Amino acid sequence: MTNHPLAELAAKLESRPVLVTGASGGIGRRLVQVLSESPVPVRALLRQDRLSGAETARGDLTRPETLAGACSGIHTIFHLASYSPAKGDPRPEEHPLHQQVTVEGTRNLLRVARSTGVERIVFASSTRVLDGSTTLYAQSKRSAEKLLSESPISTAVLRLPPVYGFTRRGFVAEMLEKALAGRLPPFPDFGDRRSLVHLDDAVQSLLLAALAPGLNGSWTVTDLQDYSIHRISEAILTALGKEPGRPWPPVVFHIAALAGEVLQRLLHRPMPLDLERLDKLRRPAWFDGAPFAEAAGYRPLYTLEKALPRMLAMLAQESDEAS
Ligand SMILES: NC(=O)c1ccc[n+]([C@@H]2O[C@H](COP(=O)([O-])OP(=O)(O)OC[C@H]3O[C@@H](n4cnc5c(N)ncnc54)[C@H](OP(=O)(O)O)[C@@H]3O)[C@@H](O)[C@H]2O)c1
Repeated sequence: MTNHPLAELAAKLESRPVLVTGASGGIGRRLVQVLSESPVPVRALLRQDRLSGAETARGDLTRPETLAGACSGIHTIFHLASYSPAKGDPRPEEHPLHQQVTVEGTRNLLRVARSTGVERIVFASSTRVLDGSTTLYAQSKRSAEKLLSESPISTAVLRLPPVYGFTRRGFVAEMLEKALAGRLPPFPDFGDRRSLVHLDDAVQSLLLAALAPGLNGSWTVTDLQDYSIHRISEAILTALGKEPGRPWPPVVFHIAALAGEVLQRLLHRPMPLDLERLDKLRRPAWFDGAPFAEAAGYRPLYTLEKALPRMLAMLAQESDEAS
């Protein structure tokens, strides 16, 4: 066994067989990898394929008849499954499958988990439930949180902000891709404050929540930093060894977004910037992760600045392997 802090945490779950839903997803894969390097018996709920290091339970949350075998003999469920939007989906948070997978799927899972004697559930929710969002994704997460809070099973809900540490997914990876292509503009300080969390810290928080049965209710998990689009873009450019340059004034972005809006309507195809995207860039999305850190003894392993060199090395390795 390695002495990586996550492996040490996972090992503490030793006597508790765990089930991971969403095990083939970005966070689920990493969680299963960490658990499988510890003595914890780990089962992955999968709709297809297999994952090395974990026993596979074939199942679909929207088909309750497939879940009994998956939950049998399980002490703790890490419930991470969520509808995964297709890449390029212009409205990823509005797909009707969010309701089916997150709400009906959670309802099905809770019913089966109760009947098989599951003792603890840790659910991956999103900080989107906190920002007034009315998208189907946010509404479904809110409904699932409510179902969990009403369940007799001991549950912890972890609300995650955007997760970084991936090379090809998430908005940090998108900005990194733009910077590599020389297309990342020097963003000004829009006055936005935003939260992020590293993949390994998301996993750390899931493990800590599983280990602390008294830690019920909903918690926000971040890397305890205070980001802005300006800080993120500067960090990316610095990691690439590029001079961040003088930020463009906000009015330039406003004009570009208006132009994007007009062109989008004329050409019927998405533009890199429109008013909705600009609003997303400027909208504050900071959440207080300190209460969880204090209650759970959570210490983030990463900041974006610390993680970027590794993300770049992973990207370089991926493109070497592809060529
Ligand atoms: N990544 C982030 O930035 C972020 C931020 C905040 C919150 N979260 C939350 O954290 C959780 C994990 O995120 P992620 O990025 O790892 O998700 P992801 O990569 O989109 O993976 C979603 C997982 O859910 C599974 N799934 C979808 N429909 C299912 C169904 N009907 N039955 C069983 N499994 C099903 C998928 O399986 P298939 O492979 O079979 O499709 C996949 O394993 C999600 O609940 C997400 O909402 C993520």
